[in-house]
Amino acid sequence: MNRIEDRAIGTSTARLDGSGKVTGTAPYAYEHRVADPAYLVPATATIARGRVRKIDTTAARAVPGVLAVLTVFDAPRLTADAEGEYVVLQSPDVAYRGQMIAAVVAETPEVARQACDELTIEYEPQPHDTGFRRDHPAMYAPEKANGGYPADSERGNVDAAFGSADVVVDEWYSTPEEHNNPLEPHTVVALWENDELTLYDSTQHPHGVVEALAPVLGIDPSRIRVICPYIGGGFGSKGAPHAHDVLASMAARVIPGRAVKFAVTRQDMFGYVGYRAPTASHVCMAADRDGTLTGLIHEAYTQSSHVSEFVEQAAVSARSLYRVPNLRTTHRAVALDVPAPFWMRAPGEAPGMYAGEVAMDELAEACGIDPIELRIRNEPEVDPETGKPWSSRRLVECLREGGRRFGWDPDDRAPGLRRHGRWLTGTGVAVATYPHMVNPGSEASIRHEGDDRFVVRIGAADLGTGAWTALTLIAADALGCRADDVRVEIGDSALPNATVAGGSSGTSSWGTAIMTAAEEFRKRFGDRPEDGAEIAAAAGDNRELEHYRAQSYGAHFAEVRVDADTGEIRVPRMLGMFSVGRVINPRTARSQFIGGMCFGISMALFEESVRDSRFGHVVNHDLADYHVPTHADIGNIDAAWLDEDDLRATPTGSRGVGEIGIVGSAAAVVNALWHATGVRVRKLPAHLEDVS
Ligand code: MOS
Repeated sequence: MNRIEDRAIGTSTARLDGSGKVTGTAPYAYEHRVADPAYLVPATATIARGRVRKIDTTAARAVPGVLAVLTVFDAPRLTADAEGEYVVLQSPDVAYRGQMIAAVVAETPEVARQACDELTIEYEPQPHDTGFRRDHPAMYAPEKANGGYPADSERGNVDAAFGSADVVVDEWYSTPEEHNNPLEPHTVVALWENDELTLYDSTQHPHGVVEALAPVLGIDPSRIRVICPYIGGGFGSKGAPHAHDVLASMAARVIPGRAVKFAVTRQDMFGYVGYRAPTASHVCMAADRDGTLTGLIHEAYTQSSHVSEFVEQAAVSARSLYRVPNLRTTHRAVALDVPAPFWMRAPGEAPGMYAGEVAMDELAEACGIDPIELRIRNEPEVDPETGKPWSSRRLVECLREGGRRFGWDPDDRAPGLRRHGRWLTGTGVAVATYPHMVNPGSEASIRHEGDDRFVVRIGAADLGTGAWTALTLIAADALGCRADDVRVEIGDSALPNATVAGGSSGTSSWGTAIMTAAEEFRKRFGDRPEDGAEIAAAAGDNRELEHYRAQSYGAHFAEVRVDADTGEIRVPRMLGMFSVGRVINPRTARSQFIGGMCFGISMALFEESVRDSRFGHVVNHDLADYHVPTHADIGNIDAAWLDEDDLRATPTGSRGVGEIGIVGSAAAVVNALWHATGVRVRKLPAHLEDVS
């Protein structure tokens, strides 16, 4: 066959699923055609803690078209292995407001909704507590934070460093509860046939859904299949199944042979599908007069639940970002009567580096040093946490080159001086880092279809990121053919095993499996494979990577203007300069970066889930009241990256791009607000009354 010398990797390629998505022909989970579907609508608890005393289902069952009514008193039993949020309708106990306590399955969604309204539910409420505060008396020290990180860390002599410091910054920073709002809500279609379960499920991890649900439902994983080629966003919230997947599977078992469709409503997405917990960070920095960090403390406080433990790892990024010999980081959590928090884009880094990078700006101010220069002065030679060398760390270049392109002026750092008409203007900088993760266990198969055309199969998920397209480019280079001659099949647990589309690990993990399989294929079949030649292989461990610390890096630059009279905040310009190894597809990588940066602007200025502690629910549970940026809120936003190959990180030379865009971007906006107005915003989101 003809080997193609040009590399597909690095060519700007339109997303393969793009036209299907924008023309409405790509079927999302809920839209898969199934014969004669039934529809599920859940009833959710209207108390935040207590017990369901009684559910009268008589009127609901009498509604014509109702097929089944399930309640906490009579729903089918799950296995004893069901834990946390997967314990659905198994007990009358209510752990949070919005928890599912009953469900109606009917011929139409309208009938199901009407019948649900006909349920008469009596409760025995008990006192509840949904009020997060950093000094909550029930704060405890967890063993681990999300990601498996040790909750606490210490090196050097922190107290001595603070005792002898020239300059000290000691402040509190807080971020609110936030909810993922992908355009496509969480949906699932469940069908039992011959004791086998098929799920069309909007998920970032088809094989993970199988692994999670099989023990809960008490069936062998080989009898569950999860299909999901197209996803309308997830941001982490679809990284694992939630209660709705269990409920749909349970309900469909009651009416075998009929598919049950369940679309979680936008309002219920503020209930049981996970969210970013609120955080409070106490950040203390000790430094010499010239800005050399001598001590750093990051104490992170966050909210967990009684359903299961989830500890946002907000202090973890502080452990290896700067060269500081004396460091203490801690995580504390309080379990409240709230749903279980879960992943939201860059869990840990996003709130933690807002705090840490605003604190760095405060240190720059206290030392009278340019904030770019301050960071360069504290650049570590090796990873201060492990002592390992970096696989590649070009943060200083991100700062310098980004600053040059942005037009950063180190001689114009005094706050509150620049006024253009009614607008006060300012610029801010903050850095970003995110771990490079390659999850072990992905497999891929490759089949030659004749005519130099290949099918590559892997059960990966593209939640809207462009991963599908990136994998196609990787496969083309690995097989030495044109991208047009590779068809990659993803989104199905019947395909070879794939790890989660999360932690910015997807393309690295699956791409490694595809490269391994392609290498095996070429070794086995040479340059003239027969039609139908096929091979499957698993990604091997990247042993070399164990000797290095691998992280992605970036520097964010933001320009803001603030109306001197009203406090109206605008972000006319933002630039992110990244170091992420080889960029597989410039078009979709840029889209990931600027998407993350929009998320950062959103975090800085808009997003906040307001939980009413009297009743325990999120009051602003819809897109009218839960604010995210519109086009009019985003100005001239751009992303660029260093030309780089990190072959220690992956065989393609790439590192993750999925989450780094949000990390630090809120801090850049907040630091620019200080430069514009002289006001430090230590509580997100920044409101106009904070800066006027
Ligand atoms: Mo991302 S929050 O790890 O899907």
